[in-house]
Amino acid sequence: MMRSLAIAALAALLSSPLVSAQKCGPGSNCPADSPCCSLYGQCGVGAYCLGGCDPVFSHSLDSCVPGPTCQSTDYKLKSLDDVMAIDKYLGDASSINWVATGKPVVYNDAILLTMAEDTVGTLLESSHYVWYGKICAKMTTSGGAGVVTAFIMMSGVRDEIDFEFVGVDLQHAQSNYYSQGVTNYHNELNLTVSNTNENVHEYCVDWKPDSLTWIIDDAPLRTVNRSDTWNATANRFDYPQTPSRVMLSLWPAGLPTNDKGTVDWAGGEISWSSPFMQNGYYYAMVEEVSVDCYDPPPGAQVKGKNSYIYTDAAGTNNTVQITDDEMILASFYATGENPKYDPNAKVSGKKSSDAPQPTQETVPGMSGGGNRGNDNVSSSAAAESPTGTAEGTAAATAAATAAATGNGGFSQGGNGNGGGKSGATGFKEARLGMGGSGLAVVVAVLGLLVI
Ligand SMILES: *[C@@H]1O[C@H](CO)[C@@H](O)[C@H](O)[C@H]1NC(C)=O
Ligand SMILES: *[C@@H]1O[C@H](CO)[C@@H](O)[C@H](O)[C@H]1NC(C)=O
Ligand SMILES: *[C@@H]1O[C@H](CO)[C@@H](O)[C@H](O)[C@H]1NC(C)=O
Ligand SMILES: *[C@@H]1O[C@H](CO)[C@@H](O)[C@H](O)[C@H]1NC(C)=O
Ligand SMILES: *[C@@H]1O[C@H](CO)[C@@H](O)[C@H](O)[C@H]1NC(C)=O
Repeated sequence: MMRSLAIAALAALLSSPLVSAQKCGPGSNCPADSPCCSLYGQCGVGAYCLGGCDPVFSHSLDSCVPGPTCQSTDYKLKSLDDVMAIDKYLGDASSINWVATGKPVVYNDAILLTMAEDTVGTLLESSHYVWYGKICAKMTTSGGAGVVTAFIMMSGVRDEIDFEFVGVDLQHAQSNYYSQGVTNYHNELNLTVSNTNENVHEYCVDWKPDSLTWIIDDAPLRTVNRSDTWNATANRFDYPQTPSRVMLSLWPAGLPTNDKGTVDWAGGEISWSSPFMQNGYYYAMVEEVSVDCYDPPPGAQVKGKNSYIYTDAAGTNNTVQITDDEMILASFYATGENPKYDPNAKVSGKKSSDAPQPTQETVPGMSGGGNRGNDNVSSSAAAESPTGTAEGTAAATAAATAAATGNGGFSQGGNGNGGGKSGATGFKEARLGMGGSGLAVVVAVLGLLVI
């Protein structure tokens, strides 16, 4: 259900005059100067080329940065020590395991994904990909009409494995899967579970090359066999088969500005004075995430051990290669094709202040279309922009993003845009961005455009 709504929303987004970032998707690849196609179907550089970058709709197969390989770990989410704001992360998965958009908050040895009034919630994404494994999350969900909690796996080519929870139905987890983002109305199945808001349950997906099982509290509740997913039209199995990241999110599907189908699916419009809100926000709690990586499938192209790349735009299992290719960007203007690019790199001891100022979008969900979430705490684009008037232009968002990254790059060189007001602050000041399940997050963005 969600997929087609999301695509409809995406189409609406594409026609919005407020959105400046270039679009990408079927039939439309990103241009050379803004080569990376984000999860949200927009072109950019920097973080657009990191986690979630879609190699098929990017400018070339090399535009996306190779994805960090699977790491078997039990992540105890007791603090934000292992969480970095998306506008600070340049791809070093050896130093951080979680990348956040929005506002995660620590509470009682767990992390709350929060969603305050007029925000689009919080999204936590793993820095590492998983290419088959058992992935589990111990969590609660938010209640409330229009509020959706999600624990999903999502690949660059949009293979997806989902647990989704609508806040009006606390007795079910909706299990779902997609292959390359293609809608299939028959994939969803409701799994029965006791109050997902009040009780911590352990939700797992056991993802193998041949079968996929959804498990709640050790009980296997649904299995899909790859052999049953053959699609003769596409000539492939419609089965999740490419390296995917763990994504945990809380998002406002029930914004009145969203597509009616989305609002209905989520149980109606969201109320900003719900008993499910505390301290001014809705929240879902994540205590722990564990990843048990399986070996690469037999026949996999193994040329290294650190990173995943795609060798063909077919985006199927046999086009994935394990390499030792570079995964860290030198700046938010670098890309997979040019990972060392930094317009403000010091040249013989001085900043190259005459370097042309790049204008591409740099952080998906923040720079680019429809990302004006504002929690009044944030170092938002508007707040950081010295003129305060240019918000919404690519240059202003790029400048603000660079300022917010506080990494000394762009904001302090060049013409001084954003100069000095670096948002090199704690995580709490990261701007709110998008949360949500896959392309469905675009629905939330649509809401923001009119807030
Ligand atoms: C799952 O439950 C929701 C209500 O929570 C309902 O709207 C939906 O139709 C159900 N889906 C299926 C496939 O039964
Ligand atoms: C999946 O395949 C196994 C045998 O490999 C079989 O036992 C099981 O019933 C199948 N599951 C479904 C849902 O068809
Ligand atoms: C099979 O694949 C085609 C092409 O991607 C898609 O349009 C179609 O919906 C798929 N069929 C099913 C049943 O999902
Ligand atoms: C890819 O999937 C096919 C089935 O479509 C399977 O036969 C093959 O072994 C798989 N290859 C890899 C590398 O996983
Ligand atoms: C943010 O500030 C604006 C005005 O400055 C106010 O109207 C709005 O209610 C505030 N939002 C929050 C979430 O505090």
